Amino acid sequence: MAQRPTGVKTSEASASPARFRSKHLLAIGDLNRFEAEQLLDRAETFEPLLEQKVKKLDTLRGRTLINLFFENSTRTQSSFELAGKRMGADVVNMSVKSSSVAKGETLIDTAATLNAMRPDLLVVRHGSSGAAALLARKVDCAVINAGDGKHEHPTQALLDAFTIRQRLGKIEGLNIAICGDVLHSRVARSNVALLNILGANVRLVGPPTLMPTGAERWGATVHHDMRAGIKDADVVMMLRVQRERMDGGFFPSAREFFWFYGLDEDKLKFAKPGALVMHPGPMNRGVEIDSIVADDPKISLIETQVRMGVAVRMAVLEALAEPGSNQETR
Ligand code: NCD
Repeated sequence: MAQRPTGVKTSEASASPARFRSKHLLAIGDLNRFEAEQLLDRAETFEPLLEQKVKKLDTLRGRTLINLFFENSTRTQSSFELAGKRMGADVVNMSVKSSSVAKGETLIDTAATLNAMRPDLLVVRHGSSGAAALLARKVDCAVINAGDGKHEHPTQALLDAFTIRQRLGKIEGLNIAICGDVLHSRVARSNVALLNILGANVRLVGPPTLMPTGAERWGATVHHDMRAGIKDADVVMMLRVQRERMDGGFFPSAREFFWFYGLDEDKLKFAKPGALVMHPGPMNRGVEIDSIVADDPKISLIETQVRMGVAVRMAVLEALAEPGSNQETR
C-alpha cells in the first residue's frame, strides 16, 4: 500500500512515523521527551499537506476511528475527525449526552458496545477526570484522551508546543506564562507537563481562588500578579474562564476578573517585545482576553493553533495505529 501522501514532496513525506511505548495517549506522562519531539517532527511533515488541494493520505486506510464525545466540542472533535479522514481512516462521530446520575455505568456500557465494533482508535472526551483511563481498561484498541474533566488534554498541549516551535523555532529555555482559570483547566495541566519535558520555564498566573493547591509542585512558578507573572514572557497562553466547572463564586465579577487578569495591550507590554499570545478556545472576549490582542495577527497564534491541531493529531493517530509502535510496556 502506498504510504506517501498525495502531492507532498518526497523529503517532507519521508520522516518516519513517531513511535509510542504506551498503547494509549491518556496524559502527557505517557510520553518522554524523545517521543514528544518525534511527534512534533512528524506533525511538521504533515503540516504542508493541509495547504494543498488534495489533503488525503492512505496511511490509515481500512482503520476505524471512533470519536466519542460526552461533552460539547467544536474544534477538538472536528480536528480529530479531519485528522482521521486525512490519514485515510473511516471516522465515526458519536456525541453522547452525559447522564449526571450514572456517568460511570454509561461509560462502561458504551465502551463494551463500541469494543464489539472493533475500532482501531477511540478518541474520548468526558466531563469526569479519569474517564479516558477507565475506558482504556475496557476496550482493546488505542484510546486517546481528548479532555477528561479537569485532568488532562494531551493533544491540546502537543498542538500548543508544535505551534510555538513552528513560530519560534524552539521551546527549550522559553518563558511561557499560562494565565487565568488554572484550577479548572485540563489544558494547563497538560501544558505544564509537556513544556517542562521540552525544557521551557513555565509560570502559572491567576487569582488564588483559581490556582490549585500545590500548583508550585507541578514544575512551574506561581504568580498572583499578572504583570509580574508575564514579565519577560516569550509566550502568554490564556485559559478560558470555565464557568461550567465552577460550583461557586471564584471571583466577584467578569469585569473585575478582566481588570486584574484579562490580557489587554497594557498588560502585554510587560511581556517581551513581540511576545506571542495563545488561547485554546473557545474564548470569552472581554473576560480573559481583549479582542484587540486576540485578533492581532502579528501577535495572536489562536487561529494557527487550530490549524496545527490537525497536523499534530494526524501524527498521534498514525503513531497509535502503527502496528508494533506500542507493543512494549513501560
Ligand atoms: C479546551 C477544552 O475543552 O479543554 N478547549 C479545546 O479543547 N479547544 C479548553 C476550554 O474549553 O477552555
